[in-house]
Amino acid sequence: MKNPLIIAIDGPAASGKGTLSRKLATHFDLPHLDTGLIYRAVGQALLQVDLPLDNEELAAEVAQNIDFSKLDRKALSVHEIGEAASKVAIMPKVREILLQAQRDFAAKGAVLDGRDIGTVVCPNADIKLFVTASPQIRAKRRFDEMIERGRTQDDVTYEAVLADLKVRDDRDMNRKDAPLKPAQDAHLIDTSKMDIETAFQTVLDLVKHTGL
Ligand code: CDP
Repeated sequence: MKNPLIIAIDGPAASGKGTLSRKLATHFDLPHLDTGLIYRAVGQALLQVDLPLDNEELAAEVAQNIDFSKLDRKALSVHEIGEAASKVAIMPKVREILLQAQRDFAAKGAVLDGRDIGTVVCPNADIKLFVTASPQIRAKRRFDEMIERGRTQDDVTYEAVLADLKVRDDRDMNRKDAPLKPAQDAHLIDTSKMDIETAFQTVLDLVKHTGL
């Protein structure tokens, strides 16, 4: 029997990896896991009951109880939850607890996107992509998304979003455990000047060339 197809997609916030992953999952008829949502779910659970975001034991306990089948993307996409997620994501115990469940999800073939999929979660993935875009473009995308979802220009500015995004990039890239970086064999896709359809076609061409 043919080995199941695993596609690993990593990249920083608002690089376009989420939309690209969903399109690829539909195209290849594979299940998709947005691994950011599981870190977000840990952050959300702590925020909801006003618990600190810097207590590794507490966060690990919460991580133990995250149900991968009940991740509510809409509720979890709040900006503050993203910030909380990147704080708990630096904790080795939290990452370790979530690792096996991510591997189990991938085992039968899947598209996974996150920060450490090609490097740690699925180092043997068939296709690895590292999706980037300039910080300015990513901040503009995130800002537009927030306005679209009902935030107003009185309570959020592009400059603040850019500043937060740079802090988060820095935290994600410089943590000791599973930092955000391209796997050695990842294909780099810079979406700064690409719309989603162009990025999708670029990846399909690439997959064709790898003969999968
Ligand atoms: O949607 P956005 O790119 O803003 O963030 P996300 O993918 O939902 O991830 C939120 C945070 O979770 C990131 O800033 C990372 O700190 C963390 N994360 C991680 O450490 N490892 C992953 N595989 C996925 C997310």
